[in-house]
Amino acid sequence: MDRRRFLRTLLSGATVAALGPALLRGGEALAGDPAEFAAGLRERPYLAGWRQVAAEAFGPTTVQLEGRLPADFAGTLYRNGPAWFERDGFRYEHWFDGDGMVHGWHFGNGAVTHRGRMVQTPKFQREQRAGRFNTPAAGTTIAEPVAIRNNDDANTANTSVVTIGGRLFALYEGGSAFELDPDELATLEPTTWRPDLQALPFSAHPLRDRDGSWWNFGALSLMGGGGLLLWHIGADARLIDAHVHALDAPGYLHAFAQTDRYLVFLMTPFDRTAGGSFFESMAFAPQRPCTALVIDKTAPDRVMRRFEVDFAAIYHFGDAFERGSELIVRAAHHDDVEHARSPHRAAMFGHAGAASPAQLAELRLDLRTGRARWHMLGVPGMEFPLFDARTAGDSGARLYMPATVGEASAPYFNAVQMIDAAADLRTVHRYGRDILVEEHVFVPRPGSTRPDDGWLVGTLLDPTRDRSGIAVLDAQRIGDGPLATAWLPYAFPLGFHGHFAQAAA
Ligand SMILES: [Fe+2]
Repeated sequence: MDRRRFLRTLLSGATVAALGPALLRGGEALAGDPAEFAAGLRERPYLAGWRQVAAEAFGPTTVQLEGRLPADFAGTLYRNGPAWFERDGFRYEHWFDGDGMVHGWHFGNGAVTHRGRMVQTPKFQREQRAGRFNTPAAGTTIAEPVAIRNNDDANTANTSVVTIGGRLFALYEGGSAFELDPDELATLEPTTWRPDLQALPFSAHPLRDRDGSWWNFGALSLMGGGGLLLWHIGADARLIDAHVHALDAPGYLHAFAQTDRYLVFLMTPFDRTAGGSFFESMAFAPQRPCTALVIDKTAPDRVMRRFEVDFAAIYHFGDAFERGSELIVRAAHHDDVEHARSPHRAAMFGHAGAASPAQLAELRLDLRTGRARWHMLGVPGMEFPLFDARTAGDSGARLYMPATVGEASAPYFNAVQMIDAAADLRTVHRYGRDILVEEHVFVPRPGSTRPDDGWLVGTLLDPTRDRSGIAVLDAQRIGDGPLATAWLPYAFPLGFHGHFAQAAA
């Protein structure tokens, strides 16, 4: 059987058939109540981070920057996140369910111009017409859902955004990337990299390799199977190749990591309980170990090594590197499996909740001995770790991430920090008690090859003044605070991930 036939057989057979039951199970709607959320919001203004977006489109809105933007800082920060949570008296109970809104923050001439646009997926358009949610969701049971043909009929395109070969894609973990117009953010179409791979999962966390190509995976557990579909996309946004690595047991994975030579995937074990949507019926299985897969980039059609390691629920990885016979992978390590199954669930209901219980950890995989273990790095209350991809492959990178420092009025991040684990260095900027702080993206200084020479750009929510904003910091002087900040005359809910497209010099 040739490879293409094999893929089609595997992916159009039992796994695709299993998608329907996994997502379409009926039953009573167990959603949140918009009125209950609104009452909570009056008491806890920070819940604006989980509030239904006020409009289908924002901007273009140009605001002056406070402070001074470096002359060579130019380009657009694209971000994505769930924004549409309520219809017809029904509110999603899981943060990941909201339909995606993509934002573009374009910097130039001492100002920033913001646009926000709902991604016009078939799901969003169908529900706009119907006036109610009628499509299976990832984490909430929907009553009387329409039948869906494939994952893209339920795709919310709500998790991240990436630019490949000058083309902009809104990403979701369970289906295709949706291509958008990079200037106007108008939705073009879902991307089919090869006809036999239409509508298959293309995760929200692709990784760019040093040669400019992109690696990504699709989790087969989202289709009722086990294992992953490995994608390799060229710098020109054409498919180089795709491979299926099937596993017998279900494992959840949301992102992965790479060293110069290897790709590292960590499958977190879970069981399916009866009924409900994917996340409702999923129970992490902390009594079982995780499976780590190592794939050699020069032989992507096979798994080079397989490890077992103590259970951990992971969404996001930082850098990875090789040290002697070991692969070292940094990650935001969640011990609280219920928080990991449904992050900030209390906020979705308008209730008070707990902050992120994740801590920074290293996964150490010894290729010589086969030993795998976790090592905690003593950095609690963090998520969304990012780094400068120019860092050499034989040493750990400095990691940049939101943090909670001192008093915070929200169970969320109020600061940004740099952690250099090797040098035992930490620098912090605390935005303030009432500011909600999102992922900060590293932007390299044009013309420089020195790792960590550049800036951080991150978005903010100020619920006390009902406004969203953005800040630019010197990555080497985080403690000095932002070089430039801009605030919009409106607010929108928190997002997940962003990508900075630098303007051509
Ligand atoms: Fe993510």
